[in-house]
Amino acid sequence: MTGGKYPEMAGKRILLGVTGGIGAYKAAELVRAFVKEGAHVDVAMTRAASRFITPMTLETLSRNPVAMDMFTPASAGTISHIELAQAADIFLVAPATANYLGKAAAGIADDLLTTISLVVRCPIVLAPAMNSKMWSHPAVGVNTDILRSRGVSFVLPEEGELACGQEGPGRLAGLDRIMESVARNLSRGDLQGLGIIVTAGPTREPLDPVRFITNRSTGKMGYAIAEAAARRGARVHLVSGPVELEAPRGAAITRVGTAREMLGEVQKTIDGADWLIMAAAVADFAPAHYSCTKIPKEGKKVLAVEFSPNPDILLEVLPEKGEKLFVGFAAQTGDPVPEGKKKMARKGLDLMVANDVSREGIGFGSDDNEATLLDPSGREEKMPTMPKTLMADRILDRALELWREKRASAGKKDPEE
Ligand code: PMT
Repeated sequence: MTGGKYPEMAGKRILLGVTGGIGAYKAAELVRAFVKEGAHVDVAMTRAASRFITPMTLETLSRNPVAMDMFTPASAGTISHIELAQAADIFLVAPATANYLGKAAAGIADDLLTTISLVVRCPIVLAPAMNSKMWSHPAVGVNTDILRSRGVSFVLPEEGELACGQEGPGRLAGLDRIMESVARNLSRGDLQGLGIIVTAGPTREPLDPVRFITNRSTGKMGYAIAEAAARRGARVHLVSGPVELEAPRGAAITRVGTAREMLGEVQKTIDGADWLIMAAAVADFAPAHYSCTKIPKEGKKVLAVEFSPNPDILLEVLPEKGEKLFVGFAAQTGDPVPEGKKKMARKGLDLMVANDVSREGIGFGSDDNEATLLDPSGREEKMPTMPKTLMADRILDRALELWREKRASAGKKDPEE
C-alpha cells in the first residue's frame, strides 16, 4: 500500500512557482517529494529560474509540462495557464525572490508566474530566499506584511551560510518545513478550536538509579496522531514517554518518565481539553520498592522483584470526562477485538483502536499498523495495514464523527460545521 507522510496531499493539484534564485535547484527535491505523496504537480517558472534549473528537469520529475511563457498556447490535451491556476488546490512559490514578493504585493502581472499569482484562489504559500541584506530591507518587510494581510502563508527563510558567502537569514527553508506548511494549508482545518491531549510512547518504571522496566513502544503511533491533529487545526498537548522522536510540529509537548508522572500531567490539563487520546503504552506495574542505590549482583543467584499495579490513567480521569471524548488503544496478542470491546466498556471510552501487537511489521516500533476501530454502538471498522501517519487521520476522522454525533445529541453545534 502506498502512503506518504502527508495524506492530505494525495490526489491534490499542487502548483509550484519557481523564481530565479540559487534555491531554485531545490525545486527538484520538492517536486519529487510531492509526487511521492501522490500529488499532481504543475510547475510554472520564471525565465530567471530557468537559468538555475532546467524546465526539463522539473518536467521529468513532475511528469507534466512546465509553464514559463505567457503566450505559448496550451498544447492539445493540456490545460491553459489560467485553467492551471484555477484548478490548483494550493499554490506554492519556492524560492520566492525579493523581486517576486514586490510584484505579488503590488499586483504586477508582467510574466506568467505573476499573472498566475493574481488568478489563483486557493491557499498560497511563499518560501522566500534571498541575500540576508535584501531579506532585512524594509521594502521586503512591507511587501511581506501586505501579502500576509491578504492571507498568504510564509515559510520563513533559515539562517546559515548563503550562496553569496555571507552568513545570515535568507536561505530557503528546509524541505520538511515547506512540506509541513503545504500540508497544513491543504488540510481541512476540521479540528480547529478543539483541545486534544495525546499520550504516546512507553513509561519507564525505575528499579534503582540505573535500571528500569519499560516496554517496546516507540511513540510512532501517538506522535503521528499528535502531528495530524495539529495539522488539522487542533490545539494539541502531547504527553510523551521517553522516545527518540522529534517533537511534532505545532504540538505542545510535555515529556514524562513514569506512569504516575503521565497521570499527573493528564490530570493537570484534562480540564481544558475536549478529547483525550491514550496511545501510550502505560506500564501496568511498577517495582514495588525503589532502591536508592544500585542493587548489587554479588551474592545473588536470583533477583526477585515485587511489582505493584500502577494507576490506570483512563479510569483515574473518567470522573472528569463529562462531555469530553475519550479514545483508547487496546494492545493485544492475537485477535484484539474481543478484549478491545471489554476494555472500551470498562474504561468508558467513546472509541477504541484495537491492535494486534504480536505480528511482525505492525504494532510496536513499525512504521505501519493494522487495527479495528470499535465504538459503543457496536460498529466495527477494520483498517488494513497502512502507515501510522495515514491511520492517524483515519482515527481522527472517526473520532470527529463521534464527537459531532455526541454534540448534536446534546444540542450543541461546532463553529466549523
Ligand atoms: O508506540 P509505537 O511503537 O508506535 O506502538 C504503538 C502502540 C502499539 C503502543 C499503540 O498502537 C497502542 O496499542 N497503544 C496502547 C498500548 C496499551 O497500553 O494498551 P493496553 O491495552 O494495555 O491499555 C488500554 C488503554 O488503557 C490504552 O489506551 C492505554 O493507554 C490505557 N492505559 C493503560 C494502562 C494504564 N495504567 N493506564 C491507561 O490509561
